[in-house]
Amino acid sequence: MDVAALFDIRGQVAIVTGASSGLGRIMASGLAAAGATVVVGARREDRLRALEREIAAGGGRAVVVPCDVRDPGHADLLVAAALAEGPLDGVILNAGVGAGSPAEHEDLSRFHEVMEVNVAAVMRLASTCAREMIPRGRGWMITLSSILGKRGGTGEGVAAYTASKGAVEQLTRELARQWGAHGIRVNALAPGYFPTSMNEPMTQGEGRLESIISRIPLGRPGVPEDIAGVAVFLASRAGAYITGQSIGLDGGMAAW
Ligand SMILES: NC(=O)c1ccc[n+]([C@@H]2O[C@H](COP(=O)([O-])OP(=O)(O)OC[C@H]3O[C@@H](n4cnc5c(N)ncnc54)[C@H](OP(=O)(O)O)[C@@H]3O)[C@@H](O)[C@H]2O)c1
Repeated sequence: MDVAALFDIRGQVAIVTGASSGLGRIMASGLAAAGATVVVGARREDRLRALEREIAAGGGRAVVVPCDVRDPGHADLLVAAALAEGPLDGVILNAGVGAGSPAEHEDLSRFHEVMEVNVAAVMRLASTCAREMIPRGRGWMITLSSILGKRGGTGEGVAAYTASKGAVEQLTRELARQWGAHGIRVNALAPGYFPTSMNEPMTQGEGRLESIISRIPLGRPGVPEDIAGVAVFLASRAGAYITGQSIGLDGGMAAW
């Protein structure tokens, strides 16, 4: 058996949303470094252009699609850009937002916005991608759940975020069930703590970072290598028998 070939994703075409920063940027860079063409979407075009240059400098290819995932047209834009590069192999449905407040003061318009970006937009793009993948009989999708898709939060309150990530977990299982017969694998990544702009406010204040780290058995935050390789693995034939799963990327945080 040629085991190295199982991890080979050269020539694949994949969409990554929320690639302008944080985990999306890391996963897009990882896929591109492994030889995939990445179609990168987000609102901040300047950051996407910087990523495009960085990937090109490494010999890879990125295609920039500025878009807001709340805009119903974003899915068609991203898929059209991917199809211009070749058949669509995969999508990382990563764009996400958070919100924090005590639940008794929950701002319902913000709650709806979190659900729109973290859940409804994921559904919209996943469906659009599936319509391209079904006739080919193959494809992969990675959604972004969270440790907070599996348990309640800490601190002041994250009702909208936990509700949205719980929904992502369920959506992942149901899409995997519906599309498995078409050769499409759908899995979630459930990160614990990777330092990004989203969770920067969580670590402001004396002792807060130390408190988070104290709950991570491996004793450290996630680093880019902890997520880039897992994304490549799920995109590859090495992950061919994995679907409907939520894979914790949390240094053991959810283990206790
Ligand atoms: N970091 C962690 O420890 C952690 C833990 C668990 C789960 N996650 C999940 O990982 C994903 C990425 O988060 P992150 O930590 O990397 O945060 P981040 O650095 O804030 O990145 C969020 C990304 O989503 C994009 N985005 C947000 N709203 C958008 C919209 N309306 N349209 C298009 N793009 C939008 C942002 O791009 P623009 O602002 O340029 O549009 C940005 O690229 C999220 O789904 C998050 O819930 C992260």
